[in-house]
Amino acid sequence: MNVLILGSGGREHAFAWKIAQSTLCKKLFVATGNAGTAQIAQNVNIPLNDFPRLAQFCLDNQVDLVLVGTETPLVDGIVDFFKTAEQLKHIHLIGPTQAGAMLEGSKDFSKTFMLKYGIPTATARTFDKSNLQEGLVYIDKHSLPIVLKADGLAAGKGVIITEDAQEAKQILLEMIEGAKFGVASNKVLIENYLKGIELSVFVLTDGISYKILPSAKDYKRIGEGDTGLNTGGMGAVSPISFADDDFMRKVEEKIIKPTLKGLKAENIDYLGFIFIGLMNVNGEPYVIEYNVRMGDPETEVVIPRIKSDFLEILSLAAQKRLSEAKLEIDDRTATTVMLVSGGYPQDFAKGKTMTGFEKISSEVLAFHAGTLLSEGKILTSGGRVIALTGLGDDIESALEKSYKAAQFIDYEGKYYRKDIGFDVK
Ligand code: AMP
Ligand code: GLY
Repeated sequence: MNVLILGSGGREHAFAWKIAQSTLCKKLFVATGNAGTAQIAQNVNIPLNDFPRLAQFCLDNQVDLVLVGTETPLVDGIVDFFKTAEQLKHIHLIGPTQAGAMLEGSKDFSKTFMLKYGIPTATARTFDKSNLQEGLVYIDKHSLPIVLKADGLAAGKGVIITEDAQEAKQILLEMIEGAKFGVASNKVLIENYLKGIELSVFVLTDGISYKILPSAKDYKRIGEGDTGLNTGGMGAVSPISFADDDFMRKVEEKIIKPTLKGLKAENIDYLGFIFIGLMNVNGEPYVIEYNVRMGDPETEVVIPRIKSDFLEILSLAAQKRLSEAKLEIDDRTATTVMLVSGGYPQDFAKGKTMTGFEKISSEVLAFHAGTLLSEGKILTSGGRVIALTGLGDDIESALEKSYKAAQFIDYEGKYYRKDIGFDVK
C-alpha cells in the first residue's frame, strides 16, 4: 500500500514512524512533513489547501490511503473532494466529510449536537451580531468564572476563561464586533465553567463499529503548574490513572455510543478519528470539545503504546471492516515532553541549529514538529520543535527518559516544562 499523511507536526511524525514499520506499507509520503519525517518517508511540498494538486500527486504515485492528520483540510472538505471525483473514488481517506468535520469546525454545531443527543456537556448559549446586547446582559447574570468560545477554528486560541464579568463583556464585543478571531468569532458561545481534570479520549470509527484508543492527558499551558498562555500542547502522558475501567465505561456509555448514534441519526457517515476532550467532574465525564483528528502531542504517547499494525487497522476501517481489527495495547506508560522555541506561543525566532541527536538514548522516540532539514543541518522552524517520548513501567521512569533526552537536544532559546505529569503521578 502507498500511503500519504497530511500534516507536518509531531503527530504526523508519530504516524509516519508507526506506519513505516508496517509490512503493508510500500511507499510512504508526508505533505508537507518535517526533518523527522524526511528520514523515514518522502516529504511532499504541496500545501494542504491545494486539493487538486494533492489529488494529482495521489494519482501519479498510486497512493491507496490518505491519513489526514490535521483538521483544516477536513473542515475545508478534502474528503468530499476525493469522494465526488470519479478518478479519485478508489483512494481511501481517513477522516470525516465536511459534514462530520463540523463537530470540530463549529462549536455551535457541536453544542447543539450534544444537547440533542443527551451527551453531558457544559450548558451554553450562542450569540452573534443580532443578539449581542442580550449576550452582554446574559454575562451579567452568569456565574463566574465564565467561558467564551469562538464558534469556528481559531488555532486553539479561541477560548477565553475569565473571572471578571466586565472583561468578559469586553471580550464578547471584541470577538463579535471587532472580529478578534476573524470569521471564527462571528458567533460566540458563552458557557458554564467546568471544574475538574481534563482527559483526551480517542475513538477510531468506520461508521459501523469503533475502537477506543489509549487515552491521554496533555499539558496546554506554557508555564509550570498549568499557568500562562495556552499552547498547542507542551507534553502528554498515557495512560492516566483516573481513566480506570469504571470511568471509561461511563465515557463509552454516556458519550461515545450516543455520539456515534447521533452521527448516524444526522446521516453523517463518519470514518476517522473522534478526539473527545473531556472534563472529569467528580468522577463524571463532560465533553469540552470534539476534534475530528488525533491530538498533538497526545498522538506522540498514544501511537507508541499501540502494538498492533496501525496501517492494517486503518486499512480495515477504510473498508468498513474495523470490527475485524485487533487493537493490542502496551501496558507501559508513555510520556512526551515538547521542546519549544523561546517566546512561544508569542513571537519566537526560527532557523536555530539543533544539536545533540546522537546523544539521546535509542529508547527515546524523538518526534519532530517544527523542524526542517537544510544543507545537512536540522533547524528549528516552528514554535513547537520536537516531542521526546519515553516509555517505562511507570510514569516516573518514562519521564526520566523524556527529560534526559530534553537535556541533550540543544538549540538557542530552548524551553520546555519541567513538570509534565505533575498532577497524575
Ligand atoms: P477547547 O478549544 O474547547 O479545547 O478549549 C481550550 C481549553 O479551555 C480546554 O482544554 C479547557 O482547558 C478549557 N475549557 C474549555 N471549555 C471549558 C469549560 N466549559 N470549563 C472549563 N474549562 C474549559
Ligand atoms: N493537544 C490538543 C489538540 O491537539 O488539540
